[in-house]
Amino acid sequence: MHRILVFNSKGGSGKSTIATNLAGYFASRGRSTALLDYDPQGSAMRWLSQRPKDKPKIYGIAAFKNRMDLTRSWQLHIPSQADWVIIDAPAGVTGFRLADYVQRVDTIIIPVLPSPIDIHAAANFIKDLLLVGKSRQFGTNIAVVANRVKENTRVYKQLRRFLASLELPYVATFRESQNYIRAAEQGLSIHELIKPRATASCEQWNPLLAWLEVMPQRRFNEPLHNIFPLWAKG
Ligand SMILES: Nc1ncnc2c1ncn2[C@@H]1O[C@H](COP(=O)(O)OP(=O)(O)OP(=O)(O)O)[C@@H](O)[C@H]1O
Ligand SMILES: [Mg+2]
Repeated sequence: MHRILVFNSKGGSGKSTIATNLAGYFASRGRSTALLDYDPQGSAMRWLSQRPKDKPKIYGIAAFKNRMDLTRSWQLHIPSQADWVIIDAPAGVTGFRLADYVQRVDTIIIPVLPSPIDIHAAANFIKDLLLVGKSRQFGTNIAVVANRVKENTRVYKQLRRFLASLELPYVATFRESQNYIRAAEQGLSIHELIKPRATASCEQWNPLLAWLEVMPQRRFNEPLHNIFPLWAKG
C-alpha cells in the first residue's frame, strides 16, 4: 500500500485535480485504489460521486466528516488490498500540523502554479515541510510539479527556475488544459477521456507516474485515522 498525499497550503494550486487524476489513472490500470478527502470542501468526493458506474471502482473516504455513527478508525478504514491510497489535503495547513501529515504518508506531491504569489507561498510551504514537518527525518519522498502552465510565458520560466533550484525532484509539468475540466465534470481522470484529444495532456503525467512506481514505501506505526483529528467537521 503506497500512501500519496497531494499537498500545498496554498489554495487552488491543483491538489484535488491531481489527487483525482491519480486515483482515476491507477484504477483504470486495474490497481486497487482508495481516495481520501481531508478537505471540508469535499471536491474529491464530489468528483467520485460523478464517476460512471461502469468505470473501475475507487474506494472513497470522506475523511473530513466526523461521523457520529462510526468510530474514527472504522470510518477511515482502508481496505487492506488497496495498492494506492491517494489523499487530497485541504489548503491552509501550516506550522506544526505539517508533521502530522508528513509522518503518515510515503510520498508527497506538491503542485505549484506559475504565479509570483504561488511561487512565494510554495517557497515558504516547502521550507516549513523540511524544517517543521521534518520530512527528511521521517524519510518521506517529496516531489514538486508545475501545474496550469502556459508555455512560453515569462512566469513559467520563473517557476521553472524556482522548482529547479529546490533540493527536491521536479518531476512533471502539467499544462493548462480544458481536458481537466472535462474530465472533472464526468468523474474521470484525463487518462480515461477519449483519445486522441487528451493524449498530449496524458503524456505529461508519464514522468510523475514512473517516479511514483519506484519510490520506496515505509512501514507505519501511526494509523491514518490519527491524521488531523482537529480538522474533522460534522
Ligand atoms: N492543469 C490544469 N488545467 C486547467 N485547469 C486546472 C488545471 N489544474 C487545476 N485546474 C483548475 O483549477 C482550479 C483549482 O484546482 P483544484 O481545485 O484542483 O485546486 P486545489 O489545490 O485542490 O484547491 P483548494 O486549495 O481550494 O482545495 C479548478 O477549477 C481546476 O479545475
Ligand atoms: Mg482541493
